[in-house]
Amino acid sequence: MDLEKIDKEVRKALKLIRKGYQKDYIMEKIKPIEFSKEKVYEMAKCRIKAKEKFGEMAEKLFFDEEGLRYSTPPIVAEYRAKRLKCKSIADISCGVGIQLSYFAKLSKAIGVEIDEDRVKMAKLNAMVFGVDVEIIQGDALSNEIFEKIDADCIFSDPSRKEKEEKRTFETLFPNPSKVYELYSKKTGNIAFELPPQMKREEIKLQGEKEYTSLNFRLNRLALYCGDLATCNISAISLPSEERITNEDEKIEIGKGEAMDLLYEVDNTIIKANLLPNLVGKLSFNGYILHEDKKRVLLTSSNDYKSAFLRKYEIIKICRFNFSEINKELKKLNAKKATLRFSIEPKEYWKIRNKIEEGLKGEKHYYIFKVNDLAIISSPS
Ligand SMILES: C[S@@+](CC[C@H](N)C(=O)[O-])C[C@H]1O[C@@H](n2cnc3c(N)ncnc32)[C@H](O)[C@@H]1O
Repeated sequence: MDLEKIDKEVRKALKLIRKGYQKDYIMEKIKPIEFSKEKVYEMAKCRIKAKEKFGEMAEKLFFDEEGLRYSTPPIVAEYRAKRLKCKSIADISCGVGIQLSYFAKLSKAIGVEIDEDRVKMAKLNAMVFGVDVEIIQGDALSNEIFEKIDADCIFSDPSRKEKEEKRTFETLFPNPSKVYELYSKKTGNIAFELPPQMKREEIKLQGEKEYTSLNFRLNRLALYCGDLATCNISAISLPSEERITNEDEKIEIGKGEAMDLLYEVDNTIIKANLLPNLVGKLSFNGYILHEDKKRVLLTSSNDYKSAFLRKYEIIKICRFNFSEINKELKKLNAKKATLRFSIEPKEYWKIRNKIEEGLKGEKHYYIFKVNDLAIISSPS
């Protein structure tokens, strides 16, 4: 495939989109090279959207809408490739091949993809990353593909619906149970990328469930089977790679009142059910200040450092009443106040504007809500 020629056509479409031309006009100006004109246009649009996930690299890569939505962010792809480093790995649902290219940097890698256009995009992306991979088109669950795969480790990041009531193996493609049933005839070292919101009881295979946080947000849930598993449940924070597992010593702490410092806990730890292990590993001396479905806050007088905790100094506690909070903020020379409690997204700015009304100071505070109290704090 001629990377340069295809890239030139995508760039041409991108330039016209950026100049504000309508799709019909752009479609007249571009040529179908390896892809339909519709796909060239889609790939150009995706380069704009991809900037958030891929930064400057987005300008060179090839995605369709779905391929981009589910493509692995570089920091996660790099970590996963390190963790699964082996002689040879097969990514049997490789999409546009972002994770696959990162695998290929460290291991001999082969990709399988059912969608013809995505096979081509994955090949182009591998060229952009400068890695050598074989990518074959077909159904990973077919005999034909199964017979072609010879690898020490199998990886599958299945496609899923954008939204659904309940995440199950049955609505993942290819279905992880079927992948396991088939490929465990070759190797027990099989790993999956599952939807992070999938309930534990829906994970129908044994193995280590690794909740992956990217910049303090739950981003992925990997399942490592066979010898790839090192424990039952773990949480990893990226980019720091700090790790907590169910084997770390557990310490249960009770509820208590605010001390000098407030710690916001990365929700990844809560999803993974590893709060007692985090507390144990840090020898955390303090209390749970607040917990709801979205947020757990701890408090202590001691200083702890962890990528799973965001630390704040408690500056002032007052009644949770907008005008009272506003009055306190004025006294504290505030300019801004970020709200760190559960509110309807459409209410956020209405409330924030009330709380920030007339602020003329310089400082930026964070407001937490604990029962009927507001905790005005500052990152520390
Ligand atoms: C979530 S995407 C993979 C994203 C990829 N890990 C990345 O980083 O770019 C899943 C892909 O699996 C492909 N797929 C679904 N069922 C498949 C099957 N039975 N065989 C091969 N590929 C399949 C879909 O077409 C889709 O492109």
